[in-house]
Amino acid sequence: MPGSPDPAPPELASITARAPAKVNLLLQVGPRRDDGYHDLVTVFQAVSLHEEVTVTPADEFGITVEGVGGTDVGGVPLDGTNLALRAARLLAERAGVDRAVHVHVRKEVPVAGGMAGGSADAAAALVACDSLWRLRLGLDALAELGAELGSDVPFGLHGRTAVGTGRGEHLVPVLTGASSAWVFVLAEGGLSTPAVFAECDRRREATGHDAPPGRLEAVEAALRGGDVDALGAALSNDLQDAACALDPALAGTVAAGRRAGAVAGIVSGSGPTVALLARSPAAARRLALDLEPLFGAERLRTATGPAPGARVLEAVSTPSPGGRS
Ligand code: C5P
Repeated sequence: MPGSPDPAPPELASITARAPAKVNLLLQVGPRRDDGYHDLVTVFQAVSLHEEVTVTPADEFGITVEGVGGTDVGGVPLDGTNLALRAARLLAERAGVDRAVHVHVRKEVPVAGGMAGGSADAAAALVACDSLWRLRLGLDALAELGAELGSDVPFGLHGRTAVGTGRGEHLVPVLTGASSAWVFVLAEGGLSTPAVFAECDRRREATGHDAPPGRLEAVEAALRGGDVDALGAALSNDLQDAACALDPALAGTVAAGRRAGAVAGIVSGSGPTVALLARSPAAARRLALDLEPLFGAERLRTATGPAPGARVLEAVSTPSPGGRS
């Protein structure tokens, strides 16, 4: 109305956003490209293990990291290479924001586990800063920035279930007829993603085998029909043999999961986390209990998918001085 401008929105003291981990239901790796990446055909599913990122206005950019539910955060960088911090800085730079934030990450996703925990940190940091700075850039613009930070960041923003192509950054949603229940078995260490891709290349050169034929249709049909047995049969990961070669305990972990009643077991992404598919959330809890004597509770997580993509959980406003009314 003329003469009565909208009151200025309150200053925000902090924003907390969350983003999900992922498992690859299908991971077909093409030949190595000139830029060092591999063209992929993958089906991502976001699962209910989350990273939470809180951004707070600060004089300069900084980062702290905390493990949740026993997550070991020893390997997470606390310098300028941290992906959440890089995400905040990149967004500020591109949007012309001359303010800094402190980024606090609460990690529930295993570190260097093949579940895109670092990418989820970046996705949550983008969403949190976009909200704190009131940029309202929208999902597509954030995903474009995210792709500069890492191949899995756009999926962390979108969530649910999607086919990824290119480096994994081009996404098309997939219809799912049912949710999936998972048990994740954490490994005792991590694996480096570039090392696993390089081992995959090396094995292919040594054996003369190229990428195996496509199984995308089988995964999509199983998802559409909500058919857990068909999904279990269709799960496949071209990086699995390479991950198992670099971490020889993995093959035994998959086999132990199958013996304990999992519908199927697969290495998650570049590993070394193993994803076991169960018939229902209750069956996943039973499976995790049955595997406890073998792996210990601290190495087992249950989750469901698909989970939503990155979103704001909480916005804390600064109380206005003098209580303006
Ligand atoms: O994109 P991001 O930084 O997550 O990738 C980490 C590494 O994984 C890359 O440096 C590359 O070695 C490997 N990679 C690949 N092909 C992809 C995605 C990742 O070779 N499509």
